[in-house]
Amino acid sequence: MSKLESLEEELKRALVVVGDEAGLESVRVEFLGRKGKLAEAMKKLGELPVQERKRMGVELNEVKEKMEALFGAKHNSFEHKKSSMLAESEWIDVTLPGVAPAEGHLHLTTQAIMEIEQIFNRIGFTRIPVPEVDWDWYAFEGLNMPKQHPARDDWETFFVDAPEGKKGKIVAVPHVSNAQVRALETMKPPFRALYIGKAFRRQSDVSHLPIHNQFEVMMVDKDVTIVHLKGVIEHFVHEYFGYDRQVRIRPHHFRFTEPSFEIDISCGFCGGEGCRLCKEGWLELAGAGMTHPNVLKAGGVDPNEYSALAFAFGIERTYMMREGMRVGDIRVLYKNDLRFLQQF
Ligand code: DAH
Repeated sequence: MSKLESLEEELKRALVVVGDEAGLESVRVEFLGRKGKLAEAMKKLGELPVQERKRMGVELNEVKEKMEALFGAKHNSFEHKKSSMLAESEWIDVTLPGVAPAEGHLHLTTQAIMEIEQIFNRIGFTRIPVPEVDWDWYAFEGLNMPKQHPARDDWETFFVDAPEGKKGKIVAVPHVSNAQVRALETMKPPFRALYIGKAFRRQSDVSHLPIHNQFEVMMVDKDVTIVHLKGVIEHFVHEYFGYDRQVRIRPHHFRFTEPSFEIDISCGFCGGEGCRLCKEGWLELAGAGMTHPNVLKAGGVDPNEYSALAFAFGIERTYMMREGMRVGDIRVLYKNDLRFLQQF
């Protein structure tokens, strides 16, 4: 009996100094394991007389339960300590203000393209695709510029080193006007088309990009006149730049329009007085005109039945003019310097 009691005491003392789960386990093996101290005592039961054995058996079981309870309590205290340590080390203040992730935005040119497309959608122009490489026929000949014609020199064109086909050589398009004859061929007049794409030219300086974006519109119908041309241009300028801006159309020459014009808009910085940014109060932004009968014919449309207007703006220049970027070099748009791009 007293041996059993001292076993319990002994266990209590051992448990006081146990510092972790591993230590606890070895104490458990020592006392409650198959060859442990309690098992030893159990073995001795057999040597006792029957009466004695019964009584001792009951005692032993009680001691065993007490000892198990002691282990359980110690184990729980370790668990508790562990979770309170975890709570301490992983504590976060959910009321602290968060760290905002860096937010990007679409490239300025992409933003401008989306906005321009919406403006024309609202007045019935549908965007159609325009190929970036095309046959000479669509880029020049169909636009009333026969081979060897000197007007072609205005477009410093890249030719693709590929075999010539029935429609001539392949070019990296120097303007998006190649979509004109394509539209005439595939869309039944009357139609209003908008096409936006890249133009490739052998040029690169402070005011020219080797690849710039253009948007062009073409409207084909019966009795389309210069009044419509001016109306559509003005509508765009007012929507994009603001209703305080004026539009001026100046005679010019293009092979694919007759008559042809250049479009100027009043300068938004000096209000028309003349400044570093403009030419005597006006900004030159676009080419325009009434589609030449030969172009309509090239697209299979009868010029006696239909007439058409067309005009094109360079997107980068248009965008920079609106934002009032006084940058010395247009190429800064594509240097991908975030210090610049993030300002817009
Ligand atoms: N394609 C000409 C260019 O890139 C611009 C142009 C002029 C487009 C007159 C037109 C137009 O539609 O009518 O320089």
